[in-house]
Formats: sequence, C-alpha cells, structure tokens
Amino acid sequence: MAQPATHEEVHVRAIMMADHQELERLLDAVIQAFEGGDREAVAAIWTRFDRQLLAHFAAEERHLIPTLLSSSPRAAAAILAEHRHLRARLVELGAGVDLHIVNLRMARAFIDELRAHAAHEDRTLYRWADEQAADSIRLPLIQAVDAPSTDSSAASNSST
Ligand SMILES: [Fe+2]
Ligand SMILES: [Fe+2]
Repeated sequence: MAQPATHEEVHVRAIMMADHQELERLLDAVIQAFEGGDREAVAAIWTRFDRQLLAHFAAEERHLIPTLLSSSPRAAAAILAEHRHLRARLVELGAGVDLHIVNLRMARAFIDELRAHAAHEDRTLYRWADEQAADSIRLPLIQAVDAPSTDSSAASNSST
C-alpha cells in the first residue's frame, strides 16, 4: 500500500535520483522549446534548470561529500571533479542560451554527461549514504533538495 513517506523513511538514493530525473526533464524541456523556436521559454526553463542543478550540487557538497571525504577521499575527489566540470559546462551552455546560440548537440551532450554523473553518484555516493551515513547527515540533504522551489513560475509563462 502506498503511504506518505516521512523523511525518516525516504532513502537518499531515491530522493537524489528523482532530482536527477527532474533535472533531465527540465533540460529536455529546454531542448524542446529550442526546437520550437520559443526563445522566451528556452530562457525561462534554462534559468530554472540552472538554479536547480546548482542547488543539487551545493546540497551534495555541503551535506554528503565532507563525510565521504574522510572515509573515501578518492571517491569524494572524483565527484568534486565532475561537479567542477559540469559547472563549467553549465556556464558555457548558459552563455549560449543568453546569446540565443545554444547548440542543440551541446545540450544533448550535457544530458548525457549529467546522466553519467548521476549513475556514478548512484554507485558511489548515494548507496554509501544510505548504508553508512547517519540520519544527521542524510536528513538535511534530503530536506535541501526536497524543498519546493520558491520561484518556479518562470517556465510557465509562455505568452507571446
Ligand atoms: Fe553531483
Ligand atoms: Fe547528484
């Protein structure tokens, strides 16, 4: 039977992979708006995607990676290196969106990179968090990514 889960019952892995899927949906929506020639929608959805991705990285770096660093420094360093790379790619793509020259191939490649990053974290960070990390570490992370966006209206405004 489906029951509403409390934070104590929810696993890091489920929450974080759901957030990755939501990020992928947003980026897919950017691509669709781009293909449809709707520049306003591209910019609005991109802004939302950018904000949510940076919040996701920040939550991981604040709540999970410091603890992983002490038990498995190489794994933590690998994830941090991927975050650095993905942040740089986010800036590149964001500049393309601002200039209306976002490259569809680049956007699709970014989805692939994010997907690979999520799979990597699933194998290392999230399973480790559910198996090893204390509630005092897991719960603030879950709350950080689970909090509803305070300004999600941007993507819904597509008036011409
Ligand atoms: Fe990450
Ligand atoms: Fe992640």
